[in-house]
Amino acid sequence: MIFAANFKMHHTRASTAEYLDRLESILEAAEYPFKVMVFPPATALQPSRDWITVGAQNAYPAESGAYTGEIGLSQLAEFGIDTVLVGHSERRNILGESQEFIAEKFGYFADKGLQIIYCVGEPLEVRESGFEAVAEYLWEQFDGIDLDYERLIVAYEPVWAIGTGRAASVEEIAATHAELRRRIRRPLLYGGSVKPSNIAQIGAIADVDGVLVGSASLDPESFHAMMIAVAPPQV
Ligand code: 13P
Repeated sequence: MIFAANFKMHHTRASTAEYLDRLESILEAAEYPFKVMVFPPATALQPSRDWITVGAQNAYPAESGAYTGEIGLSQLAEFGIDTVLVGHSERRNILGESQEFIAEKFGYFADKGLQIIYCVGEPLEVRESGFEAVAEYLWEQFDGIDLDYERLIVAYEPVWAIGTGRAASVEEIAATHAELRRRIRRPLLYGGSVKPSNIAQIGAIADVDGVLVGSASLDPESFHAMMIAVAPPQV
């Protein structure tokens, strides 16, 4: 199972380093059967640790160039970063990234061989229109995306469940992941208000291969509590 922590615009360079030190010592002691990833802000990027892959929340699809405010492949390479989130709903909805641009990013980073966590998710009004509308909306978010890319991981994150404290129900997640599984052979993560109290239920869903966690990942003890809930330490 994959445990991915998306810090969004939380944590600094110093607190990210402290977090990774703490998480590394937890993982070293426990030998969990998990793949753990942490996505800090761009200013806090640093090399991956033993048992922890450090990835970028975003990058511009170019090596370097005149793209004010962005970071590209050369800035990622300096820290050996080879994992990137693409298509997060906050970038789609707040930063205005179009499907065309997201597909361009995907193509660029796939061409460079990076591991990509590709995010999709429907807004509340689409969810309220019924499952067919949800499926149609989600598949449109795969326009221009190579579903067979071997380093692809997909994260399903319903927009209405992100940061709201209200995760999708087990039934909603199961049905949506089963739909995605029809065409996607790569790992499927769920994201949206995952926390220590619901991770065991969510992690047990057949087509859930991992979770992408925001708020509840910001404290390493809370992130660890989720791992314990899925695989209690053998004492
Ligand atoms: P929350 O866990 O805070 O709902 O955020 C989910 C998310 O957007 C992870 O990418």
